[in-house]
Amino acid sequence: MNSKTTNICCIGAGYVGGPTMSVIAQKCPNIKVTVVDLNEERIAAWNDDDATKIPIYEPGLSAIVSEARGKNLFFSTDVEKAIDEAQIIFISVNTPTKNYGKGKGMAADLKYIELCARQIAKIAKDNKIVVEKSTLPVRTAEAIKSILENTGNGVQFEILSNPEFLAEGTAVSDLLNPDRILIGGETTKEGQLAIQTLVDIYANWVPIDKILTTNVWSSELSKLTANAFLAQRISSINALSELCEKTGANINEVAKAIGMDSRIGPKFLKSSVGFGGSCFQKDILNLVYIAKSYGLNEVADYWEQVIIMNDHQKKRFSNKIVQTLYNTVASKKITFLGWAFKKDTNDSRESAAIYVADDLINEQAQIAIYDPKVSRKKILSDLDYLESRTYKENSKNVASFDNPYDTCAGAHAIAILTEWDEFVTYDWARIYDSMQKPAFIFDGRNLLNKSELEKIGFVYHEIGT
Ligand code: NAD
Ligand code: UGA
Repeated sequence: MNSKTTNICCIGAGYVGGPTMSVIAQKCPNIKVTVVDLNEERIAAWNDDDATKIPIYEPGLSAIVSEARGKNLFFSTDVEKAIDEAQIIFISVNTPTKNYGKGKGMAADLKYIELCARQIAKIAKDNKIVVEKSTLPVRTAEAIKSILENTGNGVQFEILSNPEFLAEGTAVSDLLNPDRILIGGETTKEGQLAIQTLVDIYANWVPIDKILTTNVWSSELSKLTANAFLAQRISSINALSELCEKTGANINEVAKAIGMDSRIGPKFLKSSVGFGGSCFQKDILNLVYIAKSYGLNEVADYWEQVIIMNDHQKKRFSNKIVQTLYNTVASKKITFLGWAFKKDTNDSRESAAIYVADDLINEQAQIAIYDPKVSRKKILSDLDYLESRTYKENSKNVASFDNPYDTCAGAHAIAILTEWDEFVTYDWARIYDSMQKPAFIFDGRNLLNKSELEKIGFVYHEIGT
């Protein structure tokens, strides 16, 4: 089937499905790519005439969408038609942590995956390759295969695991120049043919030596492992940031010193208020759950510590704000610069900002928020999701603004929660003049220039110094 692929579809038009398929469409002009989703509002936004209004903010993405959309890239809610026509079906739906039943709070909720498998089985009238693009527990392909084979129309399905390693904010460049593409498939002749079909698609722009093929289980587990290792580095550096604060060592200097060891490397050693995002926590919890389900309690405890340390880091940050502000923030205006879980994205899932805000609202602070890409609606829904208090109560404690200077005026303290580049360029003297004194800054990203801010008059706290 390899050289004959002319039609693929992707179920799930989210942060992975949208950008991934846009790049495939751009790089493979002879393949029709259809991205489908049940969410009508999301699909309408992907189809907006103004490509800057697409639902996901990623540098460089709107240009690729405008180039390919309507030519060989389509966004639609007609899931059945897309499945019917495609030779390869990518599943890129969400796999959140289960919030009910067995495995609640740990296991991945695979209900959306199962729904996709059942729908593919129902519709498919010719042989298909089904690709797991979502991040899944090891051995999920077995469950998908069982559903497809037991409920299908007698056609053949090959299941591949092709996890996505893009990071938000750099999705386009990660997709254009990936460190590697990982494709896991069965060792049978049909399995190997299916692998080759997918290799041929990526080979349109990815050097062949960067396309790695493995068995299905290695591929599924490698994705969880990669995220666990990345998150572990952040928790490791954050654990040491607390020790730095006690000893006079400086975490930025320590990170630089260890990162110059080529065996350690400099990336992912940036101490922060804690990692966020939809995946690190979810995937590690899932890894912990899988280990526990095999009775590997020491393995489970080892990885769980990465999450425990991250929760501690977020809590430590909010405690520091309260303690420094004379042990009370009640009715004080605390300004948050940034709400997204990292810069250059409008995604705020599991952002550290949500948890820090929740702690401060418990202390009756008034939070004023400015983020260049996250809306007030999203901020309130993030807080609401925690179920700490009613929506109305959250609304009373949270104000959001569309310019940073109004957000900071009259504040007792500013907390930097996201490392947006624009924060560095603000007129900090103007901000200082508009604030209550002493004017505190809690820099959860070690983003700003300490000595310059202290010269202006700020009391400046960063992580790990
Ligand atoms: P997302 O929530 O942004 O998008 C998922 C989409 O799937 C939603 O729009 C939802 O409406 C749709 N959907 C769910 N069930 C459906 C169904 N039955 N039919 C049609 N559409 C359906 O999620 P995401 O961030 O794109 O993540 C998707 C998967 O990719 C997850 O497993 C995640 O772990 C993994 N992943 C995410 C990232 C990332 O940076 N966000 C990176 C690598 C891997
Ligand atoms: C992460 C991985 O980097 C991707 O490879 C993976 O595909 C993706 O998860 C996924 O599976 O969803 P992402 O969460 O988008 O990507 O962004 P990261 O750059 O990894 O940042 C995650 C969090 O860690 C952010 O809150 C970021 O601010 C924080 N971080 C990152 C630090 O605090 N310090 C660092 O040194 C690096």
